[in-house]
Amino acid sequence: MQLQIAPSILSADFAELGRDIRMLNGCADLIHLDVMDGSFVPNISFGFPVIEAVSKIATIPMDAHLMVVHPERWVKRCAELGVAMTSFHLEAVGDDAGKIIDEIKANGMKAGLVINPDIPVERLYPYIGQADYFLIMSVFAGFGGQKFIPESLQRIKALKEEITRRGFDSPIEVDGGVNAQNAAALKDAGASIFVAGSSVFKAEDPSQAVALLRNPQ
Ligand code: DX5
Ligand code: ZN
Repeated sequence: MQLQIAPSILSADFAELGRDIRMLNGCADLIHLDVMDGSFVPNISFGFPVIEAVSKIATIPMDAHLMVVHPERWVKRCAELGVAMTSFHLEAVGDDAGKIIDEIKANGMKAGLVINPDIPVERLYPYIGQADYFLIMSVFAGFGGQKFIPESLQRIKALKEEITRRGFDSPIEVDGGVNAQNAAALKDAGASIFVAGSSVFKAEDPSQAVALLRNPQ
């Protein structure tokens, strides 16, 4: 599967956001939007005014990662702003996950289901064939710049095997501490969408950092 690189603007320079988005337009596949509500995660990032501003400049698809309680409340707003992919956490919604996946799809977006590192990966299996993609957190959601949790590789591998076993090819996105050093192993494990915040934006040459992630050695 073709790798897609989704830089997270959580690590961008918000005072120069237009510049950073234009840079991503030229080198990345997706723009990853980390929405945090200070309740599901112990941090607040940004919301719809920022997504709207990004949407005016972005020429590549926007990928929203909702780290919020009640993600279903925001599905329509995401769709109206032209978000192409919206994911939410299984931990935040429990048994409502299937309904929310369907709502996201009914609003014309791809629906992703996310789990934090402490949630058994098997909890995603009932949604194989229903969710358009899965997001495996390789750090605990809430902050950029954390260290990659190596056990994530096994979790991605297990999920990939189960998806394949059931005859699907839903992409697996990985988010947290992704960098040029672990990209090859992540690709081998079966991830095909790489979210990267600090390894892109803290690099001397961010577009070169994106290129390195795309061709892991
Ligand atoms: C963490 C966010 C990530 C984060 C990734 O809660 O979901 O998208 O911005 O940042 P890095 O790549 O720095 O771990
Ligand atoms: Zn994210």
